[in-house]
Amino acid sequence: MRYAVLNLPRISDTAMTYGNRLIPALRHPVFGWLGLRPVLAQHTADEHDALRRWARDRARIVEIGVAEGVSALAMRQVMSETGSLYLIDPFHLSRLQTLNFTRRAAHRAVESCSRGEVVWIEEFSFKAASGWNKPIDLLLIDGDHSPRGVQQDWSDWNRFIEPGGVAIFHDARLFDGGWTSADYGPVRLIDALFRKGRASSWRIVEEVHSLVVVRRD
Ligand SMILES: C[S@@+](CC[C@H](N)C(=O)[O-])C[C@H]1O[C@@H](n2cnc3c(N)ncnc32)[C@H](O)[C@@H]1O
Repeated sequence: MRYAVLNLPRISDTAMTYGNRLIPALRHPVFGWLGLRPVLAQHTADEHDALRRWARDRARIVEIGVAEGVSALAMRQVMSETGSLYLIDPFHLSRLQTLNFTRRAAHRAVESCSRGEVVWIEEFSFKAASGWNKPIDLLLIDGDHSPRGVQQDWSDWNRFIEPGGVAIFHDARLFDGGWTSADYGPVRLIDALFRKGRASSWRIVEEVHSLVVVRRD
């Protein structure tokens, strides 16, 4: 499956660069679904590699915020053969809900790999959390980036992460040539919880571009 990751440095707040001249003209997800352009990641190559390293052999992975499915595919390719990958996204941003090409592009990307089991949960994360009762060994938080939204994801989901398990936040730190700023919800949450020490049984174990990985002791 062809996918494109973000290049650095970012050009502006709105233009993310993919190093492929065709992509600006073929930005609409219908072109990703048709295979006329690669599916688009919303992360860099180094972040992609970090996701693969942390997902290797994990048995129960939850991703909040799937978009065109590139981070989900990265994790599926290396997860445990007998594991489960839960993908939570309401795909509510599509203008044509009945056609919903972002959802179609995501299915096409994730289903290009057959490793493990994939469970699609087409809901907002706060709704999915209300019926959740399984332990998790990797949680990727990349959905609602508002201060309130990311705080709610952390509050709703962190209790399910087993000791030794990790939570990975995207768009959660400032870095050279990057797109984040100090007022991003995830940046603020990481500072409050893990740099100023409010979440004592958790510690930061890796930081790559905008990604921050925290592990439960
Ligand atoms: C930044 S994109 C995800 C990028 C993807 N993880 C990647 O790296 O390619 C954010 C996605 O989160 C979804 N989203 C927004 N709020 C959400 C929520 N409360 N629960 C689940 N998904 C949400 C949006 O529909 C969108 O597809």
